[in-house]
Amino acid sequence: MKICCIGAGYVGGPTMAMIALKAPDIEVRVVDMNATRIAAWNSDQLPVYEPGLDEVVRQARGRNLFFTTEVHEAIRASDIIFVAVNTPTKTYGVGSGRAADLRFIESVARTIAEVATTPKIIVEKSTIPVKTAETIKDILSANAKGLKFEVLSNPEFLAEGTAIADLEKPDRVLIGGERTPGGAAAVEKLVGVYARWIPRDRIITTNLWSSELSKLVANAFLAQRISSINSISALCEATGADVDEVAHAIGKDSRIGPKFLKASVGFGGSCFQKDILNLVYLCEHFGLPEVAAYWENVVKMNDWQKHRFAARIVRTLFNTVAEKKIAVLGFAFKKDTNDTRESAAISVCRDLLAEHAKVSVYDPKVPADEIKRDVLGANGTDARLSIAASAYEAVEGAHAVAIVTEWDEFKTLDFQRIYNSMTKPAFLFDGRNILDLAKLTEVGFRAYGIGK
Ligand code: NAD
Ligand code: UGA
Repeated sequence: MKICCIGAGYVGGPTMAMIALKAPDIEVRVVDMNATRIAAWNSDQLPVYEPGLDEVVRQARGRNLFFTTEVHEAIRASDIIFVAVNTPTKTYGVGSGRAADLRFIESVARTIAEVATTPKIIVEKSTIPVKTAETIKDILSANAKGLKFEVLSNPEFLAEGTAIADLEKPDRVLIGGERTPGGAAAVEKLVGVYARWIPRDRIITTNLWSSELSKLVANAFLAQRISSINSISALCEATGADVDEVAHAIGKDSRIGPKFLKASVGFGGSCFQKDILNLVYLCEHFGLPEVAAYWENVVKMNDWQKHRFAARIVRTLFNTVAEKKIAVLGFAFKKDTNDTRESAAISVCRDLLAEHAKVSVYDPKVPADEIKRDVLGANGTDARLSIAASAYEAVEGAHAVAIVTEWDEFKTLDFQRIYNSMTKPAFLFDGRNILDLAKLTEVGFRAYGIGK
């Protein structure tokens, strides 16, 4: 069997590497129009940082895993074509700021129709609005010279930073297909790929629309839990309750469960906000404004939390941070990734710079030019923003230090040394609740957590 994946990003690269590792008899090609990205996949410096990914790629690359820009050739050669291109929020026209921009999906569908010479199974791996398979089928059938295509939905549930573990032992694999003999056969073929290493009872098959919608709903429910606990963090700060203790207490109820109840400076990442806004747009489109408003509040609460964190820093530093140095530790949207998309750090840095603070950022994995571009825009400059090569350099002379990403290395910093090098009184804001505030207070810090 030959398969290919169009889109060599955070999903396409790791997902296909895992299939290639577990199914040495399947030839897997990962293609992308971005030649720089493909070159990086073929080098020792992979474009995606994920614990364990290097090893998986090293084992399979050149054996049955290939990264190439030859999109047409890969389409022609493959029986199954995964589509893992980006589906960002639309920034123009109808649905701007909410709907998913499907131009990359549509362009891939047109290319497949144009280039294919034999029947194919097309697998939607990207996160897309419910009913997108219909659009893909329309484009294919209108252009495909009578060839038969089956379209499946197989959304990806991996989280960045734990992608390899998630792919190796997923909670479930979801495959949606048409309830026709052809659809059922295509579903079985894809089930056969995953069944090489995933127990059958973890492979769920549904109709197309349930599968497409389940992906958006899964992300909405996860993000909703974070916004729920973050809303309570504000009440905890006002009342003296401790949000981690509240989360622990409620999470012990097996009906609620302990996961995704970590109060924070706000969720980031390329998907939660995008997918909820997409859900909101769909609800409005289908005439359900109350449902749309309900889910939109998850995003509103998250925005509020990010601004609330920066505002608390300003308020605590005697209502002015102008020309004060503030160290921001961590810039990636979570630990163990170099991804900064929608990171809460971007919002925090911008709010502090707007107050004329001098912001010094340190992140172990994100390059300096990426940080500057994210905060200031492609051509922006601001002499108050600097990038440090270590946490110790970032905090030198600072009035306050804010932890924005939960990198493990921040837990083992020498906080006495940090305190000694800072301007007094020295403030510490733990935006991820990873440190023991009581110990920091002993060191001399005025220390604050989220919901504490
Ligand atoms: P990404 O931006 O990292 O990668 C997408 C790639 O597709 C890019 O390299 C781009 O060059 C390529 N591409 C776009 N159009 C193309 C075309 N016509 N031909 C060839 N290549 C093309 O995106 P990602 O983070 O991998 O996300 C991909 C999809 O998976 C999105 O729909 C996203 O919502 C979903 N998803 C992402 C994650 C995640 O953790 N990042 C998890 C689950 C689902
Ligand atoms: C999320 C989902 O967890 C994946 O299942 C999904 O496949 C993916 O989105 C996607 O569709 O892209 P990801 O965004 O990579 O994965 O990472 P998460 O672990 O979900 O974290 C998202 C954000 O929420 C991070 O900023 C994280 O710090 C924050 N978070 C998470 C909290 O603030 N509190 C928590 O309790 C958990």
